[in-house]
Amino acid sequence: MTEPAAPAAELVVVANRLPVDRVVDAVEGPGWRRSPGGLVTALEPVMRRADGAWVGWPGQPDIEVEPFEFEGTHLVPVALSAEEVELYYEGMSNDTFWPLYHDVIAAPRYRRLWWDAYVKVNRRFADAAAGVAAEGGTVWVQDYQLQLVPQMLREARPDLTIGYFHHIPFPAYGLYSQLPWRRQVLEGLLGADVIGFQRVADAGNFARAVRRQLRYQTKATGITVPEPDGSTRNALARAFPISIDTGSYIELAARADIRARAAEIRESLGNPKKILLGVDRLDYTKGIRHRLKAFGELLEDGRIDVEDVTLVQVASPSRERVEAYMQLRDEIELTVGRINGDHDTMGHTAIRYLHQAYPREEMVALFLAADVMLVTALRDGMNLVAKEYVASRTDNRGVLVLSEFAGAADELPSAIRINPHDIHGMKEAIMRAIEMPAAEQGRRMRALRKKVIENDVATWSRSFLDALEVARTAKRAKQAGA
Ligand code: G6P
Repeated sequence: MTEPAAPAAELVVVANRLPVDRVVDAVEGPGWRRSPGGLVTALEPVMRRADGAWVGWPGQPDIEVEPFEFEGTHLVPVALSAEEVELYYEGMSNDTFWPLYHDVIAAPRYRRLWWDAYVKVNRRFADAAAGVAAEGGTVWVQDYQLQLVPQMLREARPDLTIGYFHHIPFPAYGLYSQLPWRRQVLEGLLGADVIGFQRVADAGNFARAVRRQLRYQTKATGITVPEPDGSTRNALARAFPISIDTGSYIELAARADIRARAAEIRESLGNPKKILLGVDRLDYTKGIRHRLKAFGELLEDGRIDVEDVTLVQVASPSRERVEAYMQLRDEIELTVGRINGDHDTMGHTAIRYLHQAYPREEMVALFLAADVMLVTALRDGMNLVAKEYVASRTDNRGVLVLSEFAGAADELPSAIRINPHDIHGMKEAIMRAIEMPAAEQGRRMRALRKKVIENDVATWSRSFLDALEVARTAKRAKQAGA
């Protein structure tokens, strides 16, 4: 058994990325800044209380960094070589698992070399977590880059209680079964005591894969997993829909400078009557092409006029060395260029396209400036942007158009629901959103806001950690009885 190194952490989070970004200041030199994500914000107080540690990759190849303290959390960097970034991260994680788990929107590639690197890197993360976790502690593994870590960790440290949360969809068995390593991945995940998914349907797909592939018994959310000694244990696999730090969006939306910025954005777009907004990582799962198609046709049909309606599309750069992402960027930029070329006037643009990432303040100003938010994902684990828009609309105005293929659709039935493959339907939905009377906007937005206020990311992490605590208690009782 690996001896836990000091300081031993009662709670260890293991994620592909550390919760910090490396920054180089002209005066102070290199340092770290907290990453903007909601997960990081939600876990910060929990980590402080639990003397927590976070195991992850610093985000750049070939940098060796010693463990260090950051805002009350012990950070344990896992170094990846340039080759490992290519094989484990860009290859296996983002060119195999990502497209396969998003219903093969792009073709997954199955390469043995990538798999070997994935196993090796997962082992390194598991070893790092085993080295830092306190005796009898809890480890929470995050996402598809680390699906083998739960089992590796259980073998090295049977004293630990292990959770895993899957942030992306889990596909239907007919697709999942393409994976040449389908058994190993299921066994890897089942190393966890609690396996969390975004939607009830994802948890169902997982349980079915376990039944079909491993022949284990499942009952509701419980899976009976055989132990090496011939006994069995129970693993819990259920939905824990993730959310955002709603309160911080509400606070930002109240700030006078951010409200002024929203007005300035409208002004700089030539004060169109309606602003439509899309905010996505530039990813083929987001349905950006479908959205542009619908919008372009509405202009073409003369149902909207470039003087009155503008689409702002923020597409933040992502996974730029993966071929499918390069291709997507070319297609999107060609389409945007064509639509703008056909419809722009000197004073108004059809699509303001921004291939950039912005701080949260600017995003909230954009949310406040936008009359209609378009979330047209072909497949999405949750889609937090939909929740961020709703959280920011403290004025109870604005319309959310939401794909039924995004996890958020389960919790947000008061949005205008669309099937993004149905371009005709999407065009009608966009028109309805543009024309929606203020009273109906208010009714829907209030119902949507209620949901993101009730289930914020703190509620989410609490419910997952509570489920882990129940598993831990059960484990102790079993050990005491044995
Ligand atoms: C999705 C995944 C995350 C991932 C994020 C950004 O939300 O679920 O695990 O971190 O995309 O992608 P990247 O490859 O830049 O980490």
